[in-house]
Amino acid sequence: MKRNLGLGIETSCDESSLALFNIDTGIFVYEKTLTQIQAHAKYGGVVPNIASKLHLSLVSQILDEMRLEIPDWTSHIQWVAATTRPGLITSLLVGGVLGRSLAAFLQVPFIPIDHCEAHMYSPLIQEGGATQIDWEDIKKETPLVALIVSGGHSYWIKLSEDLEAKCIGTTRDDAVGECYDKVARMLGLGYPGGPIVEKLSLEGNAQAISLPLPMPQGIDFSLSGLKTAVKRQVDQQTTPLSKTFQTNMCAAFQKCIEDLIAKKTETCIQEHRPKSLWFSGGVSANQRLCRTVASVCTRNQVVFKGVPRKYAGDNASMIAYLGHLKYKLNPEIKPQDVGIVPYSVFSKS
Ligand code: KG4
Ligand code: ZN
Repeated sequence: MKRNLGLGIETSCDESSLALFNIDTGIFVYEKTLTQIQAHAKYGGVVPNIASKLHLSLVSQILDEMRLEIPDWTSHIQWVAATTRPGLITSLLVGGVLGRSLAAFLQVPFIPIDHCEAHMYSPLIQEGGATQIDWEDIKKETPLVALIVSGGHSYWIKLSEDLEAKCIGTTRDDAVGECYDKVARMLGLGYPGGPIVEKLSLEGNAQAISLPLPMPQGIDFSLSGLKTAVKRQVDQQTTPLSKTFQTNMCAAFQKCIEDLIAKKTETCIQEHRPKSLWFSGGVSANQRLCRTVASVCTRNQVVFKGVPRKYAGDNASMIAYLGHLKYKLNPEIKPQDVGIVPYSVFSKS
C-alpha cells in the first residue's frame, strides 16, 4: 500500500477543517472546512467554550464524510499534521489530540504546526493544490518578506536565501483583523467584521469622515489610536446609527488601512529589498487591500504573491501543505519525537 497522503487538521479558532494532501501530485484530494461563525455571531466574537464543543462534533462529522468519500484513506497516510499553536487552547487540543492519537495509531509521524507559519506559506497554494512542493522552489523566491494579517496576529517575516525565518515587524497593539472586527462591532454590523466592512465600504464616501492615520516608525503597526478615533465618532452619533454613517465610516476605515499597509509595504521593501512579497492571513481576503499591496510591489519590481480567497481564512489545506514542507526538511521525524512545536519564529517559547 502506497503511503502518499498527508493529513492536515485545523481547529485553532472557529473553523473546523480537515484536508488530505497527495504528496506525489501536490493535489488536495479532500478538503472540508465547517465554519462556526453562526454560533459565535450573536456574541460578537468567538466564545472558547462553544468553539471547543463544536470542534468535537464538526471534526467527527468531517471524518465521517471523508471516510465515505475516500474509504481507505488511513492506509495511505504517511504523516499527520495539526495546528498546535497559537490559538484557543481548548480548541487547539481537539485537533492536536486527534492528530497525535491518529499518528500514534497509524504509526506515522505527527507534525505539529504553527498556525501563523501555515498562513505564511499559503500563497504557494493554488485552487486544489500546490505546484511549489519543494524547498528548492521556495529558495528561488528568497530573500522574501511575508506579511501575515489575521484576526489575532500581524507579522512581517523575512525568509533569507538559506531559509532562515526572522520576525522583522509586528503590531504594537491590535491585530489588523481584530481592528476590523471591533470597528464592525461598534457600528453594530456583526461578526466577523472584515468582510462586512469591506462590502459596506464600497457604498460609502471615505472623504466624509476624517480619521487619524496611525504611523509608528519602521514597519510595525499600531491600531489602537484609529480604533479609539472610530469609537469617539460613533459615540457622537444618535442611535440607531444611520446607514449613511455606517457606510461612510466603513469607507474611511478601509481607506486608512489601505494607506497604512501601502506605506508599511513601501518601507519594508526599501529596508529589506526582497525579491518577492507574500501576503496572507484572513485579512488578505480583502480585495482592495490585496490590490494595494500588489501595486506597491509592482511599482518596486517585487514579485507579489497573494492567497486564493478560499485559502485566506483558516483551513486545513495550509496545515497539510506546511506539514508536507516540514516533512521534506526532516523525514527522519519519529513518532516518539512528537511534541509541542519546539521553536517558532512567531513565538520564542
Ligand atoms: O486568518 P483568520 O481566518 O483567523 C485567524 O487566524 O485569526 O482571520 C480572521 C480575520 C477576522 O478578523 C476577519 O474579520 C478578517 O480576518 N477578515 C477580513 C476579511 N475577511 C476576513 N478582514 C478584512 N477584509 C476581509 N474581506
Ligand atoms: Zn488564521
